[in-house]
Amino acid sequence: MKLGLFSDSHYSSAHLTCGCRYNSKSLEKMMEAYRMFGDTGCDLVLCLGDLTDTEASYAQECDNLRACAAVMDDSPIPTLCLMGNHDAFVFTEDAFYKMLGQKHRPHPVSADGVTLLFLDACHFSDGTHYGPGHSDWTNTCYPHTDALRTQLSAADTPVYVFMHQNLDPAIPENHRLSNDALIRRIFEESGVVHGVISGHYHPGKDSVVNGIRYLTLPALCEGETADAVRIVELG
Ligand SMILES: [Fe+2]
Repeated sequence: MKLGLFSDSHYSSAHLTCGCRYNSKSLEKMMEAYRMFGDTGCDLVLCLGDLTDTEASYAQECDNLRACAAVMDDSPIPTLCLMGNHDAFVFTEDAFYKMLGQKHRPHPVSADGVTLLFLDACHFSDGTHYGPGHSDWTNTCYPHTDALRTQLSAADTPVYVFMHQNLDPAIPENHRLSNDALIRRIFEESGVVHGVISGHYHPGKDSVVNGIRYLTLPALCEGETADAVRIVELG
């Protein structure tokens, strides 16, 4: 299975935010990314969150997300998106996935002898989910640890995990889940998790910890498209 990956487009009408995010250029970069995914024969595109950024009005924020969805719809390659902390600050989960033409957050995908598992870590450390106007990028966790253990114990193929936020211990702590050590241990003990792919930490990172690869995508809004996207073949 060949996957096209990108994250952190932060698309909005702003030319530049935070000194390094070229928000308004992201739609064009997304189109460029899909051309690369098409040219290389990707079977599936995964967007790992923070598709959009805040605007002066909710109507504009909806228009921006629909514009991202239109780019995805223009491609014959199917796309699955995960919500990031910026998306959760603006949209309810229901509104976010509906505007992208998905009914819900992505369910696991099994094909070509591998399983893709999608985790939503847009939760505060007390387990409550972020909501519009209520999120904190430095306070994130994945609370469903028992269900995760059960799910991994039933896996009979290598598993690749996709999430917005970070588990790589080489990434600054404020970007990582508050229960990152526990989640890494669950992955290690399962014996089936081969890789974890994230966004969120905009410079990107690529580490191997106790035999599991932690790949963090550089943000699409900051650099050149070719430097931000990844094309990986699994299985
Ligand atoms: Fe981001």
